[in-house]
Amino acid sequence: MNRFTIIFVLACFVVAATAVIAQQIGGDDALGTRSYDDYERPITCRQCHVDIYEQWTQSMMSQAYVHHWDEIEYFELAIPHAEIDEKVADVRAGCNGCHAPVSFLAGDVPPPRPEEGSRANEAVSCDFCHTVIARTGDPSFNYNYVSSPGRVKYGNREGVESPHHETKYLEFMRTAQFCGTCHNEKSPYDIWVKSTQLEWAEGPYAEEQVPCQVCHMPRAPGKNANIAEKPHSDIAQHLFHGAHDPGKVRGSIEMRMHPNDREAEPGMQIVITAQLFNGKCGHKVPSGSSEERQLWLHLVAVDADGREYHLPVDQKGFEGEEHTITSNELAYQDMGPMMGDAGFAGLPRDALPEGDRIFCLPYFDPQGRRTIAQWNTASQGVDYRIGPRETKIETYTWTVPDEVAIGIVTVRAELYYRRLVKSVADFLKVPEDETEIIVVNDAVTWFEVFD
Ligand code: HEC
Ligand code: HEC
Ligand code: HEC
Ligand code: HEC
Ligand code: HEC
Repeated sequence: MNRFTIIFVLACFVVAATAVIAQQIGGDDALGTRSYDDYERPITCRQCHVDIYEQWTQSMMSQAYVHHWDEIEYFELAIPHAEIDEKVADVRAGCNGCHAPVSFLAGDVPPPRPEEGSRANEAVSCDFCHTVIARTGDPSFNYNYVSSPGRVKYGNREGVESPHHETKYLEFMRTAQFCGTCHNEKSPYDIWVKSTQLEWAEGPYAEEQVPCQVCHMPRAPGKNANIAEKPHSDIAQHLFHGAHDPGKVRGSIEMRMHPNDREAEPGMQIVITAQLFNGKCGHKVPSGSSEERQLWLHLVAVDADGREYHLPVDQKGFEGEEHTITSNELAYQDMGPMMGDAGFAGLPRDALPEGDRIFCLPYFDPQGRRTIAQWNTASQGVDYRIGPRETKIETYTWTVPDEVAIGIVTVRAELYYRRLVKSVADFLKVPEDETEIIVVNDAVTWFEVFD
């Protein structure tokens, strides 16, 4: 070999090595490394994958860019904030890493508004997910997936054939780590502001090898393409149902309740105990966007004359507990400067009756005030959400009032869920459906009042 051949061989080596490394780009480094033309449109996949396509269009992942509340938060809060605060400047692009991944990879940030009908509207699309091949680090978070678009679509079966594309089995697609690339998020202040996959990893379902797909992409017999030769017994349904599916939320926490005594007199103390069991979720409840989700327990005693008494929860005395009991003190002041109103006084924190237990993880801005801007989160309070297979016990000590009617007192408990704090939704003009109240569960018990 002469010198030139050696140099040529070395040069080829360097080019090949760079190409391999280039394929392994993820997270912020991947911004602008692809073009829209590298990815096929979901409508193309529909030709043969009709059922899967129709399922996906009903899921939030197909709407992650066009959904009204996402649009409002991104364009009215995050982008203006990125312009005035250097610390959060990267969210201008970064929100899209999860909500409009192809736009992020194409460097089209901010993408055009949803009404302009651009390809950003495809959101988390078929071809995006089916050409992810790996992640760039451990744990999964902040869009650290590796995207490798092309003719090969990665899936969960060996040896299936399609006239439109090649297919390849990929173990990674079947793991929770795949979902975690977007379902775990760290703020610019290095705080975990979304940790669904991390919560799962610490819980019983990881140990039992029950990944996200088992509950959010359940299996059923059928064909996965209308031109497929053979049916399969276990087609992955693309439901991705979660907080926006009341049927998924209802019953996700089970509840029972009892009094410490079945007989009471006016002036006596009765203690009601409620048990709340998370038997159905692979992660905490609420999970994901915990900065804005609300899960609260409301107890009412009704006497024999139908008079109602709201029972506030007993305090347990742990640090930071005030954030786990509903309150309407002013919060969310950080939205003011983002919207050009430096003197903004804030909004009622929970916009709910006070004194109820609220299962939450409070997010604080750099000034220590509650925030719904997860990217502006510099610290968090006590985590009082309900973990997978965890049971929380709440007690209600009630001094039976003198004017109570003699006879049976019925105590009703209702566990409610709301996706977005109502005061925030009204202030930002988020359409009503986002603040729909879902009854997760209820329970009833009784005791009798004698003279
Ligand atoms: C969020 C990522 C994601 C999106 C978006 C997505 N898929 Fe999938 N898809 C998966 C995963 C994960 C599996 C495998 C699930 C498993 O095995 O646990 C899968 C499986 C499949 C399968 C094989 C099903 C089977 O069991 O044989 C087909 C076909 C498919 N997807 C097509 C599509 C099409 C078409 C779209 C768009 C309409 C789409 N996917 C959107 C993640 C996604
Ligand atoms: C012309 C029809 C056609 C089109 C268009 C098409 N596919 Fe397929 N696809 C198939 C067939 C057929 C199979 C194999 C089905 C089987 O045998 O189970 C398949 C299989 C797959 C698999 C592998 C499933 C597994 O079980 O591992 C994935 C993933 C997939 N397609 C994704 C896509 C995506 C994403 C698009 C759009 C970019 C797309 N397909 C467009 C026909 C098509
Ligand atoms: C490219 C990023 C990305 C990946 C990968 C991803 N997701 Fe998502 N997912 C999102 C975004 C963004 C939303 C929020 C959509 C919205 O409400 O705007 C979402 C929403 C959801 C929801 C609906 C929550 C609700 O409020 O109803 C479920 C369930 C879900 N994803 C499950 C999964 C599962 C399971 C996987 C892995 C198979 C996965 N996701 C992979 C980005 C992703
Ligand atoms: C054992 C079943 C199970 C497993 C495993 C599971 N989930 Fe869920 N998930 C649920 C149920 C039930 C709900 C609805 C109740 C709720 O909102 O928490 C839900 C809700 C969600 C939501 C909406 C949360 C919110 O409050 O906005 C997201 C997002 C989600 N799941 C993603 C995932 C991801 C990602 C994984 C894997 C890391 C996963 N899930 C694993 C059962 C499961
Ligand atoms: C690491 C991925 C990731 C990043 C980065 C990210 N999001 Fe999300 N976002 C998600 C996921 C996943 C969900 C759904 C979680 C759940 O269901 O609770 C979500 C939910 C939301 C929701 C609630 C949607 C609803 O319908 O309730 C809004 C609004 C939102 N994101 C806006 C933003 C904005 C604005 C940014 C940038 C400042 C951003 N997101 C950055 C992954 C991400």
